[in-house]
Amino acid sequence: MTLSGKRILLIVAGGIAAYKSLDLIRRLRDRGASVRCVMTDGAKQFVTPLSLASLSGQPLSDDLFSPHDDNGMAHINLSRQTDLVVVAPATADLLAKMAHGLADDLASTTLLAADKPVLVAPSMNQFMWAHPATQANLALLKQRGVLQIGPGAGDLACGEVGDGRLAEVMDIVAAIEKFFAKPGPLTGKKALVTSGPTYEPIDPVRFIGNRSSGKQGHAIAAALADLGAEVTLVSGPVSLPDPEGVRVVKVETAREMDAACQAALPADIAVCAAAVADWRAAEVAPQKLKKQAGADAPALHFVQNPDILAGLGAMGAGRPRLLVGFAAETEKLVEHAQAKLAAKQCDLIVANDVSAGTGTFGGDANRVWLVEKDKVTEWPPLSKRDVAVRLAQALSERLS
Ligand code: CTP
Repeated sequence: MTLSGKRILLIVAGGIAAYKSLDLIRRLRDRGASVRCVMTDGAKQFVTPLSLASLSGQPLSDDLFSPHDDNGMAHINLSRQTDLVVVAPATADLLAKMAHGLADDLASTTLLAADKPVLVAPSMNQFMWAHPATQANLALLKQRGVLQIGPGAGDLACGEVGDGRLAEVMDIVAAIEKFFAKPGPLTGKKALVTSGPTYEPIDPVRFIGNRSSGKQGHAIAAALADLGAEVTLVSGPVSLPDPEGVRVVKVETAREMDAACQAALPADIAVCAAAVADWRAAEVAPQKLKKQAGADAPALHFVQNPDILAGLGAMGAGRPRLLVGFAAETEKLVEHAQAKLAAKQCDLIVANDVSAGTGTFGGDANRVWLVEKDKVTEWPPLSKRDVAVRLAQALSERLS
């Protein structure tokens, strides 16, 4: 999800986890958010004002009585010019101040004067966290609508092990994205997408694969998630980053992909965009096959893999309401797609031309035809991302 245009006020308090706020700023800005920082005196023991100012690309505020910072009105104006206040790390001390309305520095005064939602990411020693005072303070803050992420459990900087670790930076980012997420037309719907090639082993070092890059399938997973769907992407080996906001299950073989798809059911929508190997070696050699001088090349015997799309189409109860397949063809595109639509009992086939010279396999562009039972729709040449966005939109219209 993008945070484009969102304004975040990040308050950094004095805990050892303050260094993680630097990564948090970067991640938020990568997603298009603007980040303005306030730091406490304690935070300066762990990170420098210069680091926060440089990474955020905005002036840093740290002085309640600065006549230069907003004519002395920073504690009021900072939250007026923001959409969400994030306190990370939130120390036991700052949480206590927030709970009891203390305002003796810029951070606490800004929080008292804030007119925007506040998300806290606590971080402290496990006994400080478990202390009834801290727990009571948190309970009070939550009652007042303050949002909380973490803390997690694990090794603490003090050497002890327990609750109190700052939530992982990416989990804080996810909590912020969730806060801004708008319900979309697919909110509450589950989608399953397959993507990429499968690798079918021959021996421990060799496999049979194909040239699918996974770009189209991954883009579809991202586009469905952007419309609010809860997406599981079952991906063969690809060199693409995981799309944001999508649950990714990584597999190698067709049979693994099939099992992962079954495990992701029930789903309202299933899009099978993977280039699944139709066959696998009947036997996988337990040791690397060695060549022997003068001997014939080894003969491989194949057996058929499960057809994941056809399996979903043949399901009785529990079949995805909208089942979409792909047909990669080099000739008689629509004719072959119509045959696949019927044979695999799906609702829609996205047919694409993968003949030599089209650059579809591995490339960024795609030319597709939507083939349905009584309708064929031709789309103009588009980027794979645009095909994904249009397809997600078309599926959400057909589902409603
Ligand atoms: N598919 C699948 N499982 C398989 C083979 C294919 O789920 N074992 C799906 C693909 O993800 C795609 C559709 O079936 O959505 C069509 O795949 P394609 O390879 O084009 O068709 P095949 O049925 O394998 O037919 P052919 O190779 O003869 O064109």
